[in-house]
Amino acid sequence: MSVHNSINKGKSITVTIDGKVCESTFGKTILDIARENDIYIPTMCYLTKVQAIASCRMCVVDVEGVDGMILSCQEKATDGAVINTNNAEIHSERQSIMKLYNVNHPLECGVCDKSGECDLQNKTMEFGLEEQAFTARDQHRPVENWGHVSYDPSLCIMCEKCVRVSTEITGDEALKIKSGGYGSTIINTKQEKNYTSLGEAAAVCPVGALVNTDFKYSVNAWELTKIPSACPHCGAGCDMAYEVKNGKVYRITNTFEFTTLCGAGRYAFDYANENVKKDLEAFKKAVEAFNSADSVMVSSQISNEEAHILQKFKEKLGFKLVSHEARAYQKFMQSYSMVTGKNLYNGTLEALAKSRAIIVMGTKINDDSPTVKYHINMASKWHRARVAYMHSLEDIEVKNIVTQFIKYEVGSEEGVAALLVDTLLKDIELPKELRDFMDDLDIGNLSAECNIGEEELEALKKSLIKKSGFSLVVGSDLYAHPRAEQIAKLVALLEEYAGFNVICIPPAGNAMGVSLICDLDDSEEGKTVGYNVKADFTLSALGDGDLDMPAMNQQEGTLTTVDKRVVPMNVAVEYDGYVLNDIANELGLYEEYTIDYTKELPLEKGFKAVGFDLLPNYFDSIGNEYRGYLLDAQKVLVDRGVEEVAEMDGFSGAVIYNCNPVDQFSPFTAKSSLLENSAELIGSQQFSSATKLQDGEKITFTLDGVRFNRVFKIDTSMKGTIALNPTFDMGLSTALLSSYRFSRLDFERLGS
Ligand code: SF4
Ligand code: SF4
Ligand code: FES
Repeated sequence: MSVHNSINKGKSITVTIDGKVCESTFGKTILDIARENDIYIPTMCYLTKVQAIASCRMCVVDVEGVDGMILSCQEKATDGAVINTNNAEIHSERQSIMKLYNVNHPLECGVCDKSGECDLQNKTMEFGLEEQAFTARDQHRPVENWGHVSYDPSLCIMCEKCVRVSTEITGDEALKIKSGGYGSTIINTKQEKNYTSLGEAAAVCPVGALVNTDFKYSVNAWELTKIPSACPHCGAGCDMAYEVKNGKVYRITNTFEFTTLCGAGRYAFDYANENVKKDLEAFKKAVEAFNSADSVMVSSQISNEEAHILQKFKEKLGFKLVSHEARAYQKFMQSYSMVTGKNLYNGTLEALAKSRAIIVMGTKINDDSPTVKYHINMASKWHRARVAYMHSLEDIEVKNIVTQFIKYEVGSEEGVAALLVDTLLKDIELPKELRDFMDDLDIGNLSAECNIGEEELEALKKSLIKKSGFSLVVGSDLYAHPRAEQIAKLVALLEEYAGFNVICIPPAGNAMGVSLICDLDDSEEGKTVGYNVKADFTLSALGDGDLDMPAMNQQEGTLTTVDKRVVPMNVAVEYDGYVLNDIANELGLYEEYTIDYTKELPLEKGFKAVGFDLLPNYFDSIGNEYRGYLLDAQKVLVDRGVEEVAEMDGFSGAVIYNCNPVDQFSPFTAKSSLLENSAELIGSQQFSSATKLQDGEKITFTLDGVRFNRVFKIDTSMKGTIALNPTFDMGLSTALLSSYRFSRLDFERLGS
């Protein structure tokens, strides 16, 4: 950006488009301003969420006093400009472009999967083209099956949108252009990976060239009913819509101009608890079980309203309410808030994508939170953001965006956070108690314990100098750490004193909602009832408990997202069984529908008194998000006192790290027929040597009382002595896991 541009950015300007006076701000393109004012300019290659591709010329406009036609998707508007979006010359230019597009694009819409929702088909009609004006020599270009998506080169108009999504948004960098005149084509350079993120590349394809393999030819697009909702799988709550026919979900779509779905959001939709009828006997037992329960245990795969019902039960019946993941996160955030004085972190995904420097700590980000990773990738691609990835495990999937990998010892997260504070706040004015804390830090000793060299920290500091827009992303390695509350305070100091945009990724599903709404206890005792958790009496949306419950795609309700937004979910698949609200009515709470509780969610935690039916769920024409509402951060009491860093217990020998493969998050994603769902313990050759485990060997071990039987697999791309242990396949036991993600592996062999 030139000096002149950066000075003017954000300044008000007035332009006239097709006679309409439009107020806007400097820095926006003519197309942006036209869309803000509902003025239509046709485009073919424009995709709002990536940088302007500017290859199709459909968006040409006339700017008075400027020679030639201007590309409105690329040209920034200047104050006072008078713009015409259409005239005879422009129309004829657009017609010629459409004629060229149709060269060799067989107008065989009758058999094309995209028919009815194809941009080329629509614009061919719009510009009155009934026949193909030119043809080029036909070439034999077979359809390529790339796993989750299929590519038909003969239908490709080379708009480049898919390539840009793969590069700028999801960052898999699989798709590339292979140039060759009329023979130009898109190639998948990483076919062996079968990235589910290519589902998003297919979503943005304006024609039938890149499509979902499974959906292809299954149903006509116009027969599907679209049900807007939010993805419940990982805590990001991404925008999505179920597309259904006769009670069956056929595909998931999204507002792809502005939002993105990962593979789980796109493909894990067949997890409904189907064919359930009302079982009165089981229902009566459930009511009795609640009445006599000492503890109720819940997973994070429940809505805000259900969490609220359970909290009301707790107040009425006096049982302990336990949700391990949400409790760990709740305690972390309570401690965090004592430093910042607000109950929520300050970070947003939008600010993350605009960052110039990002530190990621305590999360295997590629697997834990795809959407957060995508926003880091955007910052990397658009702003050449420096990305320091701090973890005990290297991850080749983020190598392309990480500029500095800082490896630390397993268990040393408190020391790492203290080192970060020391490095980044050293030159900042701080209250005396914090200055004293920092003066007392034994940096040499901490560096040695964490195994982080002082020169690595110096390099990190240097990379932040002269940059603005810092983000810090932390994840669930920290929440169940024995020193989680101290780590939270240290991390929060970076929000409070160094102006970091901090995101504390919710550890699972609706963990943020559950942690805000429920007054959670640390551990269960006595007789237990579980909701999506194994207990003495179990309510299960997996269909394997004592009473069936609806899965998240069978419920109306809301979720709380990583962006601190309360978003609505709608019913995609009918459910005829009992729901938690039926039990609530038996127990004397009396609301007709679960969503009657939406307006009652706790105001003192930042929720708003808005009824479910009044929650908006859309994006406007320029991408402003109107999904539900944003939580209001609430003031909390400040206590910035930080304890001395504790001595660390070393982890020697073979260690396992509870980590799901990409796209798998819970027993619900595990049910998906379209996602890879083999669950193996995966480690390096070095891990194999250290443990003497052979590839294919079966072992058994116990974590938090949950027994795992695993096949060990060697992954030659991995290094070190930490193996990855998935948990998504453990059904209702998954939510019982409560300790730090790393643990020593103490196993028994079961043979090969
Ligand atoms: S596959 Fe689709 S999105 Fe990709 S370049 Fe071709 S037409 Fe455009
Ligand atoms: S799993 Fe998470 S990142 Fe993926 S679409 Fe769902 S909410 Fe978004
Ligand atoms: S939309 Fe502007 S060049 Fe394609």
